[in-house]
Amino acid sequence: MPLTDAPEKLSLFRLEDWSAQQLAQIEQALNCWVAVAADASAAATQSVGLASLSQAMRYAVLDGGKRLRPLLVLAACEAVNGNSHAGLRAACAVELIHAYSLVHDDMPCMDNDVLRRGKPTVHVKFGEAQALLAGDALQALAFEFLTPDDAQPDVFDVAIQARLCRMLAQAAGHQGMAGGQAIDLASVGLRLTAVQLHEMHRLKTGALLQASVMMGASCGAASLPVQAALRDYGEAVGLAFQVVDDILDATADSATLGKTAGKDAAQDKPTFVSLMGLAASRSYAQELLARALASLDTVQACGLDNTAALRALADMLVNRHH
Ligand code: IPE
Ligand code: IPE
Ligand code: MG
Ligand code: MG
Ligand code: MG
Repeated sequence: MPLTDAPEKLSLFRLEDWSAQQLAQIEQALNCWVAVAADASAAATQSVGLASLSQAMRYAVLDGGKRLRPLLVLAACEAVNGNSHAGLRAACAVELIHAYSLVHDDMPCMDNDVLRRGKPTVHVKFGEAQALLAGDALQALAFEFLTPDDAQPDVFDVAIQARLCRMLAQAAGHQGMAGGQAIDLASVGLRLTAVQLHEMHRLKTGALLQASVMMGASCGAASLPVQAALRDYGEAVGLAFQVVDDILDATADSATLGKTAGKDAAQDKPTFVSLMGLAASRSYAQELLARALASLDTVQACGLDNTAALRALADMLVNRHH
């Protein structure tokens, strides 16, 4: 479908309605699964330490967050008519990796932040050691989510399980989020080139957002051209997301963001705002949005026309205020 038909299609779709439905199942699954996994182990040993680890994990994951990554997983899964059990588990697994990355990102040895999702950060509330362990345990739990066994009612094909594990591991590790965070920390006070800044953002934030899209697509049988177009879409929204995060850090207030505003300048972090200024960063984000939407035109040209949620999410992610 040509780009000009997209607004008409979009107008029939209400992101609020679609998101409300998806968020309800995401919240319910996270609430149930993080509790079950964490509390079962605590109860089994009657250990005070395990009980507080469980609390720190639930505190980090539940009750807050926009859940953009899980929504992208579910939207991509829907676009390719994928297995909905796999989609929901993938959505929750990505959110766990994201939540863990935030817990560690906020620690004193990293960004040293005290506010996250409108609450005191995990290390402020539970101490640094518990925050470290909560992050570790959330990361492990993400992969447990992706590998349900035959006893679980929502078990799905082990080939899909393996594919999802590999994609998530790659996006979270050395060639993804953790690698990007390492570059971020090593770049304090430096003036990066545009190429270096793109690389840092691609890894620290873009990789997990792109993986969200591709994991959703992996829950179905997308053709190679569809996979390529969705990869482009994921790359564009992944980069746009961090450009907007940089803009909001410089322009919004802490109450709106639910995290400390103005941290990037205060800590002398290289960002798109410091590299190109606010106006150019804003137009770059819009350019990336247009690129993402054009990739969805390609997906539709391949015969998949259920891309309204992906379109609306890209728009929301770029034009968000927090
Ligand atoms: C913030 O991500 C951290 C970055 C990767 C820039 P989000 O803005 O998605 O945070 P939550 O999940 O809504 O709290
Ligand atoms: C963090 O980037 C990206 C992660 C991998 C968590 P930021 O440090 O800019 O995220 P915020 O602004 O603290 O949410
Ligand atoms: Mg950081
Ligand atoms: Mg930070
Ligand atoms: Mg930021």
